[in-house]
Order: sequence, then structure tokens, then C-alpha cells
Amino acid sequence: MSIFPTGGNGSTSENTKVTVPDLLQRKSLAAGSQNKKITCLTAYDYPTARLVDEAGVDVVLVGDSLAMVMLGHDSTLPLTLDEALHHTKAVRRGVARALVVADMPYGSYHGDISESLRNAIRFVKEAGAEAVKIEGGERRLELIARLTEAEIPVMGHIGLTPQSVNALGGYRVQGKTPNAAEQVLRDARAVEAAGAFSIVLEAIPRELAAEITKAVRIPTIGIGAGPDCDGQVLVLHDLLGLTFQNPPKFARRYANVGEAILKAVREYCADVESGRFPTDAESYHAPANVKGRKTIAIAR
Ligand code: KIV
Repeated sequence: MSIFPTGGNGSTSENTKVTVPDLLQRKSLAAGSQNKKITCLTAYDYPTARLVDEAGVDVVLVGDSLAMVMLGHDSTLPLTLDEALHHTKAVRRGVARALVVADMPYGSYHGDISESLRNAIRFVKEAGAEAVKIEGGERRLELIARLTEAEIPVMGHIGLTPQSVNALGGYRVQGKTPNAAEQVLRDARAVEAAGAFSIVLEAIPRELAAEITKAVRIPTIGIGAGPDCDGQVLVLHDLLGLTFQNPPKFARRYANVGEAILKAVREYCADVESGRFPTDAESYHAPANVKGRKTIAIAR
């Protein structure tokens, strides 16, 4: 249950809870008009979720990129269901307004459909997600339909799907040849037909993303797919400058938080080493009558 009332007309004002129908309505209102784009960012823990939500983002995605940016793996593949649930719970506690979408990790929806459904239900029931994201187009048709039937809104993800890194042979732009572009378009149509409420388009040519955005009635959320999508998503740590490799071409860096952390920690170490931290004002003091006793009460 939300602490905020919903807008009811698809508009999502600054303190109106964002819902799946609002996002769908924003797409339908956008037809022929200049509607406000959908903003989406990843978050993986309570403080960043709170800040991203307070800044007014529409959708907070607990991306499986957490395997790389938070847990130090070199792909998203090792992330476990329990790890993803744990981080989604923390994000849920930090978000009041945005729609919380949980990315299903590799292996949690690749086998039996009933087991995949049970795993998706855990994100909703235990972690408080309002939707799940799954990678793959035509081959996920049946699964998306089953999840939707079970009242779980699904965000699709096509184009470059990082969980397919081994099959794709690397992280490469997809849909560059006419046949490949045709396949991405078919994937988009399949995801829509199966009942998904939005689709992430990752690393595809801008022109193809524009064509898909026109062809489907659900919002497209681009990452490395150019400016014509209905919304944009980035990995928060790329935007903040809190990663250890060069960010991809499409990721704009808005801050250098990594540098700020280094500077703060170096200053702290220098202050401790030189005796400048802590000062007397940053110390507790014993009440006058117990000074010198072995056990003293904490005085504020
Ligand atoms: O895991 C992730 O962060 C994602 C987005 C970048 C779309 O899938």
C-alpha cells in the first residue's frame, strides 16, 4: 500500500505514487503529443533508493547489474535469487513514490515455468517489488503471459541482454543488420503481445529503437538506444562515477562520487594519524563526580 494517492489520470505529479497503469497511460497520452519521458535508474540499497526516489525518478530498478557494481563480479550471471531478494527488500524500504521493479537473476526463470513463477512471486510477496524484469523476447512469450496472468507486471528487456553474454560472445550492439533488426522488432512485438507493461531496449541503433517505440503501445525504456524511446534508464553507479572501469559510451557521468569518497577517506586517515580527529568536542565527557572511576556512564 502506498502512502501517496494515485493521480488517476495517468499523470504522475511530484508526490503521486507511480503505478503500472500510470506508465501505460503516459505512453497512450504521448501519441501525437510531447509527453514527459519516463525516468528510470537502478538502486541496490536503502540510502541510494531513498535518494533516487526523493529526487523524483519514476521507476527504481533493482538491476542484476548489482552483481557487477555492488558485488564485484565480472558479469551479471553469478547473482543468486537470495542476493537479489535481499537487495530488493532494502530498496523497497527506501522508496515511497517510484515504481519498484526487481530484475530476475540468471537461472531464476530459465527452467520450468512453474518454478519461474514461484520465484517471481517471491519478489512481490517477500521483497515488495511491484513488477519484475526479465531478459529475452520471443522465447519468453509463455513465461511473460504466465506471470501477467498471476498479476505480476512484467518489464521486458531486449536487444543486448547481458545475461546472454556467453551466447552473444560479448557485450555488443544488437540489431545492426536488417535480419538482426527484424528479430529485435519481432522480440518487441512478442513481449508486448505476451502482456508486458514496458520494454527495456538495450544497445541497439537509435533508428531501430525509434521504430520499435512507434510500433508498440507499451513504453520503451532505452539504455544505449538513443533519445526517441519513451524513457531512459541508466545504472546509478555509472551516472555517479562510482565504477572502476570506463563507462559505456551511452552512460553520461553527472558526478564523481568515487573521487569524493577517496578524498574524504584520505582526509580522515590524515586527521587520525596526525591527532586532529577526534577533537575534545567530538568526545564524551565523564560527569565531574565520577571522573577517574573505572566504570563511567556514557554522558552526552
Ligand atoms: O541490471 C540492470 O541494471 C539493467 C538495466 C541497466 C536495464 O538491466
